[in-house]
Amino acid sequence: MAAPLRIALAGLGTVGAGVIRLLEANGALIARRAGRPIAITVVSARDRAKDRGVDLSGFAWEDDLTLLAERADVDVVVELVGGADGPALSLARRTLAAGKGLVTANKAMVAHHGMELAATAEAARDGRGAPFRFEAAVAGGIPVIKGLREGAAANSLARIYGILNGTCNYILSTMEDTGRDFAEVLKEAQALGYAEADPAFDIEGIDAAHKLAILAAIGFGAGVDFTSVDIAGITRIRAADIAQAAALGYVIRLIGLADCQGRGADGAARLFQRVQPCLVPRDHPLAAVDGPTNAVVAEGDFSGRLLFQGPGAGDGPTASAVVADLIDIARGDTGPPFSVPVAELEPLARADPGDRRNRTYLRFAVADRPGVLAEITAAMRDAGVSIESLIQQGRPDAGGEDGAPAEVLVAMVTHEAPERAVAHALDLLRGSPSLAEPPLVMRLLE
Ligand code: NAP
Ligand code: HSE
Repeated sequence: MAAPLRIALAGLGTVGAGVIRLLEANGALIARRAGRPIAITVVSARDRAKDRGVDLSGFAWEDDLTLLAERADVDVVVELVGGADGPALSLARRTLAAGKGLVTANKAMVAHHGMELAATAEAARDGRGAPFRFEAAVAGGIPVIKGLREGAAANSLARIYGILNGTCNYILSTMEDTGRDFAEVLKEAQALGYAEADPAFDIEGIDAAHKLAILAAIGFGAGVDFTSVDIAGITRIRAADIAQAAALGYVIRLIGLADCQGRGADGAARLFQRVQPCLVPRDHPLAAVDGPTNAVVAEGDFSGRLLFQGPGAGDGPTASAVVADLIDIARGDTGPPFSVPVAELEPLARADPGDRRNRTYLRFAVADRPGVLAEITAAMRDAGVSIESLIQQGRPDAGGEDGAPAEVLVAMVTHEAPERAVAHALDLLRGSPSLAEPPLVMRLLE
């Protein structure tokens, strides 16, 4: 058998320890499939003394993780530290500049610096290139990057959408099933190892946006454009929204959606990218996606609708994706990280969301007094938005003290309307003393 592929492992947390366990458990099988053993030679983390539940005695230790890049006993660096910048980025840059392979699960870094790193990888070793892979950065254990880059490579894709954050999906589906509180379920997701070091990245939709920008780049052959993702998270969703969605025949899921319209001879293609909580019809395949599971739908012109589904977070699934990349590298499977060379990725302009037509769920927290409902419906009428259904629900936990009117929740679903018109209706209501907080806006996934 050929010489081992020698690995430096930076980061020994949830995913790093998972990679060690996986290579221990399946090392022989992996060596047969890769044609050579995959052997960790050196590891690095912050705290050498920490018990990680794995045996590190067979590996060298490096205090300064950036030195892993230049070690003579390393062919590929696996970066599992996290953070878009800082030590992870220094390590990634030095690794590729040194002509070594880089595997990472770090979607923040790939979303912000993926183009630069891919260009360095392509230019490495006097233009022969160094492997740079990041399957684990999107949708945990699901081989969706491989699926788009290889399995769907013959297609022009029109739309990619799905559930891209395990923590948010765990929170929303658990709240729906058990009626439990947001904060309590978030703590549980953190304890299970699903959440980012700073869980605001999960619940504010940023992590899903990192992943969406990476998928859009691969799927549409465009440069990664994280800054043009329109992002809303799940922090404002209340039990009452989940109940009202259920009464209307929907579940709430955080959906990332990207489409590329107008691609054709005139070269006026526009890229639309959005992450936001959506109402998903109960009979849609994404409505049945529960817990930390992720699912991605890709619509190809010849393949039709492809659905990739599986565990989206946690040590085992993420380690599975990391080691799959290592097996590809051990087999000598390199090639451009984003399917086509960086210089050939198209810089697509950002699509104007105002032109999009949707049915929209709007939820208002309002003072329970005469005329408030009329004020809201008048704004909708003046903006040319027609209302399909409307529910008013009391809020037993708020208002009513000191003679102030109690707050109630008014939720409505509009008929299909341009987003520009809905935004105009909300502008007309901006600053109204009747509204206790800005309206919550969620689109219906059709
Ligand atoms: P984690 O449990 O917080 O582990 C991070 C590791 O990095 C720790 O071992 C930590 O060392 C080490 N580290 C942090 N700063 C360091 C520094 N300056 N120098 C050396 N080591 C440092 O994180 P994780 O959940 O494994 O995630 C790792 C990466 O995978 C992130 O990019 C994350 O977004 C991504 N990811 C995670 C999942 C998941 O389900 N958890 C799924 C997909 C992708 P100490 O242990 O000594 O503190
Ligand atoms: N925090 C991420 C999630 C980890 O919950 O989806 C997987 O990328």
